Amino acid sequence: MKILKLMERGTKILGSDYAILGGAMTWISEANLVSAMSNAGIFGVLASGAMEPDPLKNEIAATQEKTKRNFGVNVILMHPMLNDLIDVCGEKKVSHLILAGGIPDKTVIDKIHSYGMQAIAFAPALSIAKRLFKQGIDALILEGSEAGGHVGPLSTMVLTQDILLNMREYPIFVAGGILRGEVVASMLRLGAVGCQLGTVFACCKESTAHENFKKALLKASGRNAVLPPQLDEKFTVAPVRALKNVGTEEFVAKQKEVLAKFERGEVALDNGRLSLEHFWAGSLRRAVREGDVERGSLMSGQIVEIIKEERSLKEIVDALLSEAEEFLTRTAD
Ligand SMILES: Cc1cc2nc3c(=O)[nH]c(=O)nc-3n(C[C@H](O)[C@H](O)[C@H](O)COP(=O)(O)O)c2cc1C
Repeated sequence: MKILKLMERGTKILGSDYAILGGAMTWISEANLVSAMSNAGIFGVLASGAMEPDPLKNEIAATQEKTKRNFGVNVILMHPMLNDLIDVCGEKKVSHLILAGGIPDKTVIDKIHSYGMQAIAFAPALSIAKRLFKQGIDALILEGSEAGGHVGPLSTMVLTQDILLNMREYPIFVAGGILRGEVVASMLRLGAVGCQLGTVFACCKESTAHENFKKALLKASGRNAVLPPQLDEKFTVAPVRALKNVGTEEFVAKQKEVLAKFERGEVALDNGRLSLEHFWAGSLRRAVREGDVERGSLMSGQIVEIIKEERSLKEIVDALLSEAEEFLTRTAD
């Protein structure tokens, strides 16, 4: 198949059949879903979110019991126990770490390499992408602001032209707002080594997310997957894309509360931001695990606009491959 040939650079990096990453989603990307993804030939990524080292160790072991294929672990760079989390992954012989929530410094990349693991990070701008490759990062993900969860300010289209087209020879995956195989094939033709998808997998049959959560996403319109307003320039918080509900209003109220504390000197900037991160993680849990779709966080990308049915991983992967193949055949010179 033409698409498999185009995917070769990416599959070599990931050790999967297809150069598609199932992006980590806190509370959703757990052992069952991640192992099912890797068994379906894509590259599953465990979300570690706010997990401490021991629960992460157990989750990795549970995933390894269900698949012999490679999978990655997503760690959050601002986690206070980052070094211990990396040690756990290294000891459990995880193949790849995906570093989120910031820009890793060289010591983190070197530590990951010392265990023989590969390090993948997110790049929000060309200068940062160049620096990360100089520091030895193995691959980057460009994630546009259409994506679900924490996002940067720029769209997939802009990042593609800013970074990917200037660094075609480097291993770069593209994420944010991708669903169809034609788009995956186009990104590969532009020089990407693969794509990362998230929201569609949150809603798949193998996802253990609560039925209410899945149903809310499947019936949502893309225009309701919004970013909460930033209340103060001095107190920037990472924007998080989620469906509008009571929970998003509560987040604004929480932001006001933390901002007031910050202005009164009762909380430092970093701790204030961390408390907002904990707020998100808690409300995402409420939606994903308990099914509270009113007050819980319904993180999802704008792509919910066109995700309308709960499909199995096999159906999603088969569709991606056949759409990509048909497109490549139709547009071959
Ligand atoms: C519910 C949800 C939770 C997410 N949690 C994380 C996370 O913990 N770490 C991370 O790096 N990305 C997280 N993401 C982003 C995804 O890994 C992925 O990059 C993104 O969903 C891709 O864009 P798409 O949703 O348009 O497919 C999350 C996305 C969603 C929808």
